[in-house]
Amino acid sequence: MRIRPILGGIKSYIPWLSSVKWLSSSRGTGGTISARYCYSVWLRHLCLAQDYGLPTQPAVIAELGPGDSIGSGLAGLLTGSQKYYALDVVEYTTTKRNRAIFEELVGLFADRADIPDEDEFPDVYPRLRSYGFPSEILTEERLGVSLDAAKLERIRQDLLDMPDGPQGGSAIRYICPWYDSAVIEPETVDMIFSQAVLEHVEEIDATCRAMRRWLKTGGVMSHQIDFSSHNITETWNGHWSLSDFTWRLIKGRKRFLINREPLSTHVELLKKTGCRVVCVLPVTDTGGTQRSRLARRYEHISDEDLTTKSAHILAVKE
Ligand SMILES: C[S@@+](CC[C@H](N)C(=O)[O-])C[C@H]1O[C@@H](n2cnc3c(N)ncnc32)[C@H](O)[C@@H]1O
Repeated sequence: MRIRPILGGIKSYIPWLSSVKWLSSSRGTGGTISARYCYSVWLRHLCLAQDYGLPTQPAVIAELGPGDSIGSGLAGLLTGSQKYYALDVVEYTTTKRNRAIFEELVGLFADRADIPDEDEFPDVYPRLRSYGFPSEILTEERLGVSLDAAKLERIRQDLLDMPDGPQGGSAIRYICPWYDSAVIEPETVDMIFSQAVLEHVEEIDATCRAMRRWLKTGGVMSHQIDFSSHNITETWNGHWSLSDFTWRLIKGRKRFLINREPLSTHVELLKKTGCRVVCVLPVTDTGGTQRSRLARRYEHISDEDLTTKSAHILAVKE
């Protein structure tokens, strides 16, 4: 167990300690600060949908937890989606960053750039069979429409208006914080995706129900989930050896940390809410904390849960 996470949790109860620099954690959320990351993430979700025979031309998309920028959703708009909902609980993103990332994304699509692979982003999943530009999905005809100059101008304008400006007719709706499923009309979304987010969601049950409610019948969910301790412990799965008391100390009063739910919880919740799980692509690691060290709450988890470090789940609303 590392000491810094506990100090971070205690710090969250004492506001003046926030000014102590060496106790501060980084402000950002991770990858979406980079246009190439956003390009890679969106195209991986799209290519995986294609691999599993799911629709690859979603008109309305929603992303849970975009983080530092809404770049992954912007990539969706640049590949033909008409409407993008971004739902977060902390406003990490800025208009300036989103505009810069948008322009870089336009260049990547204009160049039909290959998908950045594991050499460039070794920690990003899912892996693909091929990282060439997916021209069988993104045909010249499709890109001709989606990269039309007038459409690009409209998105630029929409970016200026968000997050607080008029969003009625906009292609982009950034909703933060979102906590109520009423923020999106039921049965209006074709695809919901998230990258490294569901492990952070505290109200995971209600969130799964909300996502199902927003999806049209036949709509797709595509979630990449990281079950690791996010470096809070020495071993990748050491968070499952910590007592609830220690975990409460670490979490402190932070808006979210990680929910410590293993793979099976997510799969079961999706099934319970009425979705068909199309595939689960796990990344396993047997080198972490062993069963004998698990906290009581986790001592009965399956071997599969204990060794699954991350997974991509594709599901469809029945
Ligand atoms: C590790 S970051 C990932 C950001 C981005 N998806 C990426 O790939 O870099 C986790 C994100 O999930 C968001 N988050 C946490 N709880 C959430 C919730 N209940 N609903 C939506 N987003 C949430 C955080 O605010 C943060 O933006």
